[in-house]
Amino acid sequence: MIRKFWSLKKGEPATEMDRKIMAFQKQGYKVPSRKLIKTPEQIEGIRRSGVINTGILDMVTTEIKEGMTTAQLDKLIYDYTTDHGAIPAPLNYEGFPCSSCISINEVVCHGIPNDKTFLRPGDIVNVDVSTILDGFFSDASRMFIIGGETTPEKQRLVDVTKECLNIGIQTAKPYCFVGDIGFAIQCHAQKNGYSVVRELCGHGVGNAFHEEPEVTHYGRPKTGMLLVPGMVFTIEPMINMGKREVHFSREDGWTVTTRDGLPSAQWEHTLLMTETGTEILTY
Ligand code: MF3
Ligand code: CO
Repeated sequence: MIRKFWSLKKGEPATEMDRKIMAFQKQGYKVPSRKLIKTPEQIEGIRRSGVINTGILDMVTTEIKEGMTTAQLDKLIYDYTTDHGAIPAPLNYEGFPCSSCISINEVVCHGIPNDKTFLRPGDIVNVDVSTILDGFFSDASRMFIIGGETTPEKQRLVDVTKECLNIGIQTAKPYCFVGDIGFAIQCHAQKNGYSVVRELCGHGVGNAFHEEPEVTHYGRPKTGMLLVPGMVFTIEPMINMGKREVHFSREDGWTVTTRDGLPSAQWEHTLLMTETGTEILTY
């Protein structure tokens, strides 16, 4: 059974953290269960997983080129991951057939690598990789501009989406709420004339691929789950140039595209909540 509330450890005095969390709980706020607070050993494991995950994205940064297929890139990701003693978390995850998600232009996320899709100059491409090392999960994605240049409109979308992630990270302070992060991201996206995808969100991560809480990239301050030191979660805003509505492919069961066909961008990090702010575990 997952306890949806905070309780004291049997036979141990209440800590400062216990008192803070229980005060929020008494006021009716959604608080984490103890299971979501990682132990120092778990944090160390997730940190090591994150180092490999970052190594993959750095390798992709060097290797990604126009004329490549997304399957070729996925193969490089598989090889790098297994060469480092790790497992690509997407592979066979709920039937997903590849080691990464590669999402081009109007593809919002969960693009399936294949040998028919060639990277073309001016494409904006999200490469999303997730790593399991010794049972610990990490998750991050970056945008790449094929050929180094795209239209000013697509370039601005990529840049503002990165700003959205960074604003979300800066907003994530101990004892803030998931809704505080979502609100900050949504404000920045909309101020720039963009929209926030609502059907997919960030998530707790570390002991499994997807854990509580759901980290929505829109919302209202002081809503959603309280975030406390020791929690590990992703922020991964998907920002659309046009309308926020998305389409889920019925053919392959995975690919998510914008309804209006306009481009979408995404950046993602895995974060550890600390006593003072967040530490990026996928930097
Ligand atoms: N990496 C995605 C995320 O950020 C999850 C992809 S699930 C997969 O949560 F099966 F498509 F890989
Ligand atoms: Co994720």
